[in-house]
Amino acid sequence: MIDVQDLTKQYAGRTAVDRLTFQVEPGQIVGFLGPNGAGKSTTMRILSGYMPPTSGRATVNGHDVFHESIAVRKSIGYMPEMAPLYTDMKVKEYLRFRAELKGLSGREMRQRVGEVMDLCTITDVRRRLIGHLSKGFRQRVALADALLHKPPLLILDEPTNGLDPVQIRQVRDLLRSLKPAHTILLSTHILQEVEAVCDRVLMIHHGRILANDTPDRLTRGLRAASVVQVELRAGGDDVLAKIEALPNVRKATQDGEESGWRTITVRVEANQDVREPLMDLALKQGWKIRELHRQLPSLEDVFIELSAAD
Ligand SMILES: Nc1ncnc2c1ncn2[C@@H]1O[C@H](COP(=O)(O)OP(=O)(O)OP(=O)(O)O)[C@@H](O)[C@H]1O
Ligand SMILES: [Mg+2]
Repeated sequence: MIDVQDLTKQYAGRTAVDRLTFQVEPGQIVGFLGPNGAGKSTTMRILSGYMPPTSGRATVNGHDVFHESIAVRKSIGYMPEMAPLYTDMKVKEYLRFRAELKGLSGREMRQRVGEVMDLCTITDVRRRLIGHLSKGFRQRVALADALLHKPPLLILDEPTNGLDPVQIRQVRDLLRSLKPAHTILLSTHILQEVEAVCDRVLMIHHGRILANDTPDRLTRGLRAASVVQVELRAGGDDVLAKIEALPNVRKATQDGEESGWRTITVRVEANQDVREPLMDLALKQGWKIRELHRQLPSLEDVFIELSAAD
């Protein structure tokens, strides 16, 4: 669906996007993740045909984004970072105007405008001036606009920016419901967002790809240790030493104690699990366990580790 080769963009000599190469398969939701200034919006603008790259190439649905930008725009619903909505138009009026620009007319146009308003839960505000809407509602008008011509590819630049938690959940559900008929590339710097909806993550930093994988494999492949948390009741002072003597345990620390129950954090070598040996040890020693769980590294840990190494 998207094929990017050595894409580079310089603004006045400063490199914003640096030889990016990646592909996006049809039917996937791909999260473009990176800190401020990483080059996410720049890449998305180029992909949407709104700006030429300095070098390299990109195709969408087989069409070159720069040389065949009309065909590309037909395949893409693009929601820019700061959606240029007409503030003095009413919501429905604006969407009809946009739909006509996208080549819809008559009954089909009116029906589609109704559908996208329903999808984005903005039907109730259809008669309000866009300029009088809150940020979250404007964001959803922009999303409705991007959906109007039923594009197979959605490029959404921070679609949940400025939304409240309820709206964020609604947008996530909406994105999930658009799968697999739509391929979605969305940018965000919220890691939980990527964990919640994306099939793949493209981590970008200083205009370069740091990682390109499933959220799962990224966190599993992390070199950082995973952690097992245990709450146990045991006599004696050598509990921590006994736990540390287990294979693959890096360190055991006691975080607290409450009426005899100790909360202990056990750091484990990457890709190792120590829950079973720990359970066996507790049985052998006559310790009581009332909670035992493994905490895998988060995408945030992955990002911090990768960007530190960059
Ligand atoms: N029109 C422009 N002219 C000059 N420099 C620009 C322009 N747009 C972006 N930049 C620079 O290019 C780099 C990448 O910016 P970009 O907006 O693509 O980042 P981003 O990943 O979208 O960041 P954010 O999370 O803040 O939206 C930044 O250093 C930015 O200052
Ligand atoms: Mg941006």
